[in-house]
Amino acid sequence: MKTVFRIAIDGPSGAGKSTVAKAVAVKLGIDYIDTGAMYRAVGLKMLNHGMEMEESDGLKSLLEQTDIDFSAGNIILDGAIVNDLIRTPEVSMAASACSALGMVRAKLVELQRKMGKTKSVVMDGRDIGTNVLTDAEYKYYLTATAEERARRRTAELIEKGQNADFDQVLADIEMRDYNDSHRTLNPLCKAEDAEEIDSTHMTIDEVVSHICSKIV
Ligand code: DC
Repeated sequence: MKTVFRIAIDGPSGAGKSTVAKAVAVKLGIDYIDTGAMYRAVGLKMLNHGMEMEESDGLKSLLEQTDIDFSAGNIILDGAIVNDLIRTPEVSMAASACSALGMVRAKLVELQRKMGKTKSVVMDGRDIGTNVLTDAEYKYYLTATAEERARRRTAELIEKGQNADFDQVLADIEMRDYNDSHRTLNPLCKAEDAEEIDSTHMTIDEVVSHICSKIV
């Protein structure tokens, strides 16, 4: 195994990227960077400040005063753990909207590149293989049908005690798929050199084993 290597996992919402990436990180003893959580943290902060999801001088200074980090599996926004606050449907939409803004992407991509510079990481998101870590040693595009992804997300929300209606979750997923793959800046798409994994009929363990078996 190389001393420092990067694994990029991209794909649409609910394909299982973060569950897979977390398990791969544990198995290989490397860090996991959840870039979606970073966009969610910015979306949460913009909502809390009542900001429009558009570029402005206010957004510029808000971003300058924003600190995002990961520690012991937690996402820290300006010193506070926001793990649960960033997982609501409202914040999902805000994350998708703010991720289309150049100011937001510039700030977060810079942070992500720094995080993947000196140590081995597995990083998941939408543009990791195509933009953030174009020279990653291993690249995957993890997908599943929209219905299967909505089924998984509904079960996850219910397990957390949140309200979840399958049809609404499916509609949200389809809207986010559209937004994420049609935005001008770094839209969701498979990197040419990424391997596509369709997880519709696969268990998490199968996907994790497949990825880890390729790391040499
Ligand atoms: O993976 P997620 O659902 O937590 O991501 C939240 C939003 O952030 C998603 O709608 C798209 C955006 N995102 C992005 O644009 N680029 C990334 N690298 C990761 C997420």
